[in-house]
Amino acid sequence: MKFQATSLFASALMAGSAAAHSWLACVDTNVTNYDECIANPNLDPVRTCNGFPRNKIYDYDWIKESSFYAWNLNNASNTEGLACRPGSQDSATYPSEYPMTTAVPGQTLRMRHWGNGHSRWDIGSPNHRDPGLVRVYWAGQKETELKYKSDLTEANWLPGAQANFSADAVTLITGNTMNEKANYFDLTLPKDIEAGRHSMVWVWAWDSGFGALNEKTGYDGRWANSWSTCFDIEIVDSDFVGPTYDNSDDSSYVDEDEDAEAAACSTATGYLGGMSDKPCTGTACPPCWYKSQTDGSISCYDYTSSGSCPWGGAFDCSKKQATRRALKHERAPFA
Ligand SMILES: *[C@@H]1O[C@H](CO)[C@@H](O)[C@H](O)[C@H]1NC(C)=O
Ligand SMILES: *[C@@H]1O[C@H](CO)[C@@H](O)[C@H](O)[C@H]1NC(C)=O
Ligand SMILES: *[C@@H]1O[C@H](CO)[C@@H](O)[C@H](O)[C@H]1NC(C)=O
Repeated sequence: MKFQATSLFASALMAGSAAAHSWLACVDTNVTNYDECIANPNLDPVRTCNGFPRNKIYDYDWIKESSFYAWNLNNASNTEGLACRPGSQDSATYPSEYPMTTAVPGQTLRMRHWGNGHSRWDIGSPNHRDPGLVRVYWAGQKETELKYKSDLTEANWLPGAQANFSADAVTLITGNTMNEKANYFDLTLPKDIEAGRHSMVWVWAWDSGFGALNEKTGYDGRWANSWSTCFDIEIVDSDFVGPTYDNSDDSSYVDEDEDAEAAACSTATGYLGGMSDKPCTGTACPPCWYKSQTDGSISCYDYTSSGSCPWGGAFDCSKKQATRRALKHERAPFA
């Protein structure tokens, strides 16, 4: 017997599938009344942007940025698995009005990203979905790109650069309405960082991963990367020489996420078609694994007739890769 989704079930799930998304709006934000706004969200942040992410040609055109700037890492069309949106963020291009960030070693930058209705569990869209995490990846040396989403692992994580999506947000709640005035994430650069251009990738991790929390470093592989924005920082006034860490020797790094996911695929217990009375183990389960956002249980489904997993947000245990990100309501049956 095949544990496939019925078309009725699938079409009910697909109804209303506006995709959730977020992206980095400013790398170096000067908010002069930040503390006052956190204390009193009726106030509006007074801010300027001193450094932008790559190629910010539609700055403040939210609709265009939604369509042509935000990058869904798990987009079905991202067959090459690129970390940066091709054509707009794959090179260090900065129009003159939207310059690259300049910083000194050890500096803390206040980055701003869009909340887009995802800042709160109790009010957000979709409702009762955890806002997840934001984090930053870096190759550890200047003039080095992280080209693929498979490069976005703990080995290339800027240590410590991870925070709750809405931890530092200015959010005005009026009854059942949420006005997300700004979402911030403070990024502290290493003290030992060479002068020159360093390319980095900002990520919103909103899907559930099959990895684990690394208690030692704090890197949280339970959250899988969903959306990215690429940016660069020109480091000035540094005497430090050489890479901060050298990732040219792959053997010295363990890909925590992929290893954990691959291991789970061969050993974990799942449930056929999500039925609690039909457990299966490892490779005996159908290939499309979905992890519940609430209790961590795994529901396993077969491919559809087109040979792909029925909904986004699966880990394909046969191909050993994450499928495209879930659309707005797709995760409902697993949550
Ligand atoms: C931040 O903005 C304030 C007010 O415009 C200005 O006085 C200050 O110099 C700015 N600081 C930086 C680092 O840009
Ligand atoms: C998905 O990828 C295609 C091809 O690169 C692109 O045109 C489209 O805008 C992408 N969508 C998102 C949401 O990233
Ligand atoms: C982010 O913070 C909110 C509010 O405290 C919390 O409900 C949520 O679980 C947090 N998410 C993560 C991934 O830490």
